[in-house]
Amino acid sequence: MAFLDKHKIIEKNATLLLALSFVVVTIGGIVEIAPLFYLDNTIEKVEGVRPYSPLEMAGRNVYIREGCYSCHSQMIRPIRDEVERYGNYSLAAESMYDHPFQWGSKRTGPDLARVGGRYSDEWHVEHMAHPQDLVPESIMPSYKHLAKTPANGDRIADVLRTNRLVGVPYTDEMIAKAREDFYAQVDPEGDSSALLARYPGAQVRNFDGAKEVTELDALIAYLQVLGTMVDFSTFEPAQSR
Ligand code: HEC
Repeated sequence: MAFLDKHKIIEKNATLLLALSFVVVTIGGIVEIAPLFYLDNTIEKVEGVRPYSPLEMAGRNVYIREGCYSCHSQMIRPIRDEVERYGNYSLAAESMYDHPFQWGSKRTGPDLARVGGRYSDEWHVEHMAHPQDLVPESIMPSYKHLAKTPANGDRIADVLRTNRLVGVPYTDEMIAKAREDFYAQVDPEGDSSALLARYPGAQVRNFDGAKEVTELDALIAYLQVLGTMVDFSTFEPAQSR
């Protein structure tokens, strides 16, 4: 074909091929990148997504410190087998308050983006201490020290303040009441109305079942909120503009 003959000219001249490839890649790059400069925000706002409560945030810090992300991802890709296994694919908004985000790149264990509500607190208590008791073939290590490590809310206000610096919309009130809210969430007998007004849908209970507030309480509070903020029975993706 005549067309292919002409193409041969390009293929046989390395410099010309390189120059033309560069032009093509540049056009592709501009088409992909330029629109981003004209959008105010690339993250679609989604109802239900809120900043983490102080207790959940403390749990998230335990998660990061313990390196859970080295075996667990938190991003469900829009691929059929993932959606069938884990639930609705992850939305950008769902990790908009995660600094740093926990998408991860390794799945030695399952994705945890929607693990919230999948198991009971008791299951998590047992699983964190002795994963093999529940899943015999598991290679997850034991984290039984968490149940014995007390957690306190003394520095949680600073953690929220730091997150505000990078854009999480914590209000002055949330920061002032951070310590109170931290304890209110593990005290089912206390008054949690102020906590719930600040963090709608926060789950209030004694997560590890033990008297003392421990890092396990915080970690389970975090695991139980993962993927639960958006109500997917009513969620509709925005129309492309
Ligand atoms: C060495 C890799 C490894 C590390 C590190 C690890 N896990 Fe796991 N995790 C696994 C594997 C493998 C499974 C699947 C078997 C099982 O349930 O134990 C799993 C399962 C889980 C599950 C159940 C998920 C589901 O949908 O069934 C949770 C929750 C979990 N891990 C939380 C954590 C947390 C929290 C940490 C950090 C404190 C952590 N894991 C660290 C490997 C790991």
